[in-house]
Amino acid sequence: MSGFSIRGGRVVSADGVVERDLFVRDGKIVAGDEGSAFAESIDATGKLIFPGLIDTQVHFREPGAEHKEDLASGSLAAIAGGVTTFFEMPNTNPPTTTPEALADKLRRCEGRAWSDHAFFLGATEDNVDSLDEWEHTPGCCGVKVFMGSSTGSLLVDDAAVLESILRNGQRPVAVHAEDEARLRARYATIPSGSPYNIHPEVRDPTAALLATTRLLDLAEKTKRRVHVLHISTADEIELLRERDLKGLVTAEATPNHLFLEAPDCYNRFGAGVQMNPPVRDRRHQEVIRQGVVDGVIDCIGSDHAPHAPEEKAKPYPDSPSGIPSVQMTLGLLLTAVRDGWLALEDIARLTAAGPAAIFDIHDKGVLKVGADADLTIVDPSIVQPLPEQWVRSRAGYSPFVGTPLAGWPVCTMVRGAIAYRDHEPVGKAAGRPVTVG
Ligand code: DOR
Repeated sequence: MSGFSIRGGRVVSADGVVERDLFVRDGKIVAGDEGSAFAESIDATGKLIFPGLIDTQVHFREPGAEHKEDLASGSLAAIAGGVTTFFEMPNTNPPTTTPEALADKLRRCEGRAWSDHAFFLGATEDNVDSLDEWEHTPGCCGVKVFMGSSTGSLLVDDAAVLESILRNGQRPVAVHAEDEARLRARYATIPSGSPYNIHPEVRDPTAALLATTRLLDLAEKTKRRVHVLHISTADEIELLRERDLKGLVTAEATPNHLFLEAPDCYNRFGAGVQMNPPVRDRRHQEVIRQGVVDGVIDCIGSDHAPHAPEEKAKPYPDSPSGIPSVQMTLGLLLTAVRDGWLALEDIARLTAAGPAAIFDIHDKGVLKVGADADLTIVDPSIVQPLPEQWVRSRAGYSPFVGTPLAGWPVCTMVRGAIAYRDHEPVGKAAGRPVTVG
C-alpha cells in the first residue's frame, strides 16, 4: 500500500487535541519526514480525528442467533460508529467455551468482519482447569465470567469455582457481576406481564453491589486482575473509589447507563431499553458519569446486544435483555462534550487508550508513529437528530434515534484502509484478529 496523508484535522488523544497532519503507509502511522512527500492526501480541515474505538464488549450472535445479528452486520455497525476493533462475548450458541469454538468464530470473520477483532472464552465449571492455557489461543482476548445469568446459558454462581477461575490464568478476567441467588429470588415474585419499568427493581442495585463486592474480595485474595463490566450503580462506583484497587481492578461503563435514564426511558421504549444490569435512575447515572470523568471508570464498552423486535415485544420478564449500541458510543460521547460534562481527551482515553492498556494491545489505541492507522474522522458540523436510516445493526432499532447530535463519524479507517465513508461501507470487509498481550 502506498502512503497518504490526512491533512488539517484536529487529532484527539488522551493527552490533548492538536492540529496536525497524519501520515500513513502500509497501514501504519509514519513520521512526517517520511510522509511529507506522499502525493495522495485526505482533507480533514474542520474535522476531528479520533483513534479508532476499541469496543471490548459486544454480542454479535454468530453462531446461533444470526436473525438478531451476525459478525458481518455487527462489525458493519461497528465501523459505521468509528469502532475499528471489537472484542466479542462468548454467550453464543454454542457458547465459546473451547479453543475450537473460538477458532470457528475467527474463521467466520474471514472476509466478513469489517473491524479487527478478538473473542472472549466463556468460563464454566467444566473448563476451569484449561483456562490458563486456553486464554493464550490466537484471537482470544481473555476469559469472561457471568456471575449472574443473562442471555444464554453461561453462568458461574459458585464462589469456589469463581475462585478457581481467578487462580487459573494471568490475563484480566472480564466479569458480569450480578448476584444470581438474589436475581432468582426476585424473579420468582414477578407476575408475567409486569411493566417493563420494574426491571431495575427486579435486578436491583443490591444484586450488582453484592456480586461486585465479592469479586473485588476474590481479586484481592487471588491477586488476579479483574475487569468489571457495565457498572450500573452509584453504589459500585463508591465501592471502587473506596477500595482503590487500581492495577488489580478495572471497570467499564456503557453508553446505555450514561445516556438513558429511568423511569423516562422505560416509559418511552419499554423492553427496547431492557438490559442486564438495568438502566437505572438519574442518581445512578450522575454518579457513573462522575466516575467516567474522574478515572474510576477505565473504559467505555457498548455491550451491544441486539434482539429481534418481535422478541422484544414479549411480555416481561420473557422479553430478552440487551440494547444494540456499538454504533452509538462515539456520537453519544460527543453530545456529552457539547453538554459540558466530558472532554474530547476523555473520549480518546475511555474508548481507545484505556481499553488498549487494560487488555495489553500494542499498536492500537493511540495515533503514534508505528501504530496501526485505525482512526475515525468526525464531522462536528453534523448536528441533526440521529436518523433511523443510519442504524446498521440487524436489530434495526435504537433508543438513540432522534438524539440531537453534536458531531458524527464520517470516515473510518482500519489499518489505513477506508472501510466506511459518508454513511456507506467502502471496499471489502478486511478485519483481522488482534494480537493481545
Ligand atoms: O442485557 C444484556 N444482554 N446483558 C448481558 O449480559 C447479555 C446481553 C445479551 O447477550 O443479550
